[in-house]
Amino acid sequence: MKRPNRNDLCWCGSGKKYKKCHIELDNAIYKYEEQGYVIPSLNVIKSEKQIQGIRKSGELTRRVLDMVGDKIKAGITTDEINTWVSEYITENGGIAATLNYNGFPKSVCTSINNVICHGIPDDTVIKAGDIINVDVTSILDGYYSDASRMFIIGEASEAAIKLVEAAKEALRLGIEAVKPYGGLHAVGVAIQEYCDKLGYSIVKDLGGHGVGIKFHEEPHVDHFAKKGKGVLLLPGMVFTIEPMINEGDYHCEVLDDEWTVVTRDGSLSAQWEHTILVTETGVEIIV
Ligand code: MF3
Ligand code: CO
Ligand code: CO
Repeated sequence: MKRPNRNDLCWCGSGKKYKKCHIELDNAIYKYEEQGYVIPSLNVIKSEKQIQGIRKSGELTRRVLDMVGDKIKAGITTDEINTWVSEYITENGGIAATLNYNGFPKSVCTSINNVICHGIPDDTVIKAGDIINVDVTSILDGYYSDASRMFIIGEASEAAIKLVEAAKEALRLGIEAVKPYGGLHAVGVAIQEYCDKLGYSIVKDLGGHGVGIKFHEEPHVDHFAKKGKGVLLLPGMVFTIEPMINEGDYHCEVLDDEWTVVTRDGSLSAQWEHTILVTETGVEIIV
């Protein structure tokens, strides 16, 4: 952490001297650094106004996912889901963040069965027995919110249902591990402990991410256990947790379309995603 001198202006832009502004907070943070935490850039901490904006965006994303849940069924194409999502977001004054994001061509990601994430909607027909992740990111008044759910189409195999439930529980446990002034690595540790017990693997190449002002911000969120304490979690941080859980091996492959991520062994994969806010006392699920 680079710090101003006591009599210099504070880094936060208040115009006050550092010693009259953020010095004490920074001293506290410095202690965490000595304890082995990685200190995030302090601009990842959202203001109350920004949090309100992200919450509103989150409400829109939640309504989009509810709408998809009401309408999704065997026989429709993933392109139809794309149309529903695109129209719903625009009719409500928002923008679908995935459309044209780094060249992604659609307004939603639809990932079926062995597709881990970033599936591109097309004329593929959803059939009974499929499990599908629908991942929605809305921008409303400039604020981003990102969430995804799994949908089980008709009657799926017991193995598929178990995997979908496990991915949901993995997300719940990951969120439960988020503690203000704790470390981000607790998230991956909690998820891995659970998945190891069930014999499922966790995708390593992709993770959660800070979100709110941009689509992908600091910090990167690993869903598997790593050494160390990781990034220090501070109130006001907003990020996603979105574990991708495979029935088989954790390895991924990207298809020729340069987006669709599939399991290398062809096994099923499931994912749920929430955008969360670290608060002074715990965590708030924004969407
Ligand atoms: N919504 C995805 C996430 O959770 C990102 C999709 S990026 C896209 O991070 F370009 F593939 F849409
Ligand atoms: Co995300
Ligand atoms: Co997402």
